[in-house]
Amino acid sequence: MPNPSTVLITGCSSGFGLETARFFLNQGWRVIATMRTPREDLLPPSDFLHVLPLDVADADSIRRCIADAGPIDALVNNAGIGVLAPLEGIAMEHAREVFETNVLGTIAMTRAVLPQMRERRAGVVVNVTSSVTLLPLPLLSVYTGSKAAVNAFTESLALELAPFNVRARLVLPGRAPDTRFGQNALPRMVGSVPEAYAEFRDRVYAAVRDTATPVTHADDVARAVWRAVTDAAAPLRTPAGADALALAGA
Ligand SMILES: NC(=O)c1ccc[n+]([C@@H]2O[C@H](COP(=O)([O-])OP(=O)(O)OC[C@H]3O[C@@H](n4cnc5c(N)ncnc54)[C@H](OP(=O)(O)O)[C@@H]3O)[C@@H](O)[C@H]2O)c1
Repeated sequence: MPNPSTVLITGCSSGFGLETARFFLNQGWRVIATMRTPREDLLPPSDFLHVLPLDVADADSIRRCIADAGPIDALVNNAGIGVLAPLEGIAMEHAREVFETNVLGTIAMTRAVLPQMRERRAGVVVNVTSSVTLLPLPLLSVYTGSKAAVNAFTESLALELAPFNVRARLVLPGRAPDTRFGQNALPRMVGSVPEAYAEFRDRVYAAVRDTATPVTHADDVARAVWRAVTDAAAPLRTPAGADALALAGA
């Protein structure tokens, strides 16, 4: 990797993306922190920090961002959205939104950086999925489907990129109640629970709010992404957080 190397991270306005941007800056990397609504005040000022607008569900936005970013050594596809509801209560519009962002956004961003990585015979793409793909949970069918799709996408892609010395890796975080993920999912959940599921929903929500079991922190994810990016020997899947590590039997 060149020194300094450059990482482009999606979804840096909060949570894992913001913490990962901070972590790479502290390690002396050039960081392109992308956000749908760019804010310069979230990260410490640095000549190594470039905040660029990016909506991963918008092809023009991706084109502009990649054109402005310059050479990229590592891409971290972190931007993602969720929905916690029974399938019967999830509008198709919201199911499409989840797949547009989590799956097609990841595919589109990866396609956009691959030509330069292939030509340089160097680079790494890290896709952030979830430990829900290790242990299925109820009310997460659409979200889990999207993250499982990214797992399978990445595992196949890794094989076709290996001959070009370009790596594709996965980071699987556990449940992280400290980020804005739950709050950001709420608009997709309004009125999403048919009466027949109400009691079941209450039990699941109580389990989700449980604070006694181990959880994942943003710093766990930043460290796992760092390892996936910088350690060529890192496994294809890196779990992040105490709960994800336990599920993965790591
Ligand atoms: N929190 C958890 O329990 C958990 C567990 C496992 C995996 N994950 C995954 O980890 C990743 C980060 O989640 P988080 O917990 O840090 O949640 P978060 O705080 O909600 O952060 C998600 C980020 O994605 C951005 N985003 C959403 N849609 C976007 C789009 N179309 N284009 C560009 N950016 C977009 C959000 O930007 P805006 O501010 O513009 O909305 C935000 O910056 C997601 O892929 C999520 O699925 C989360």
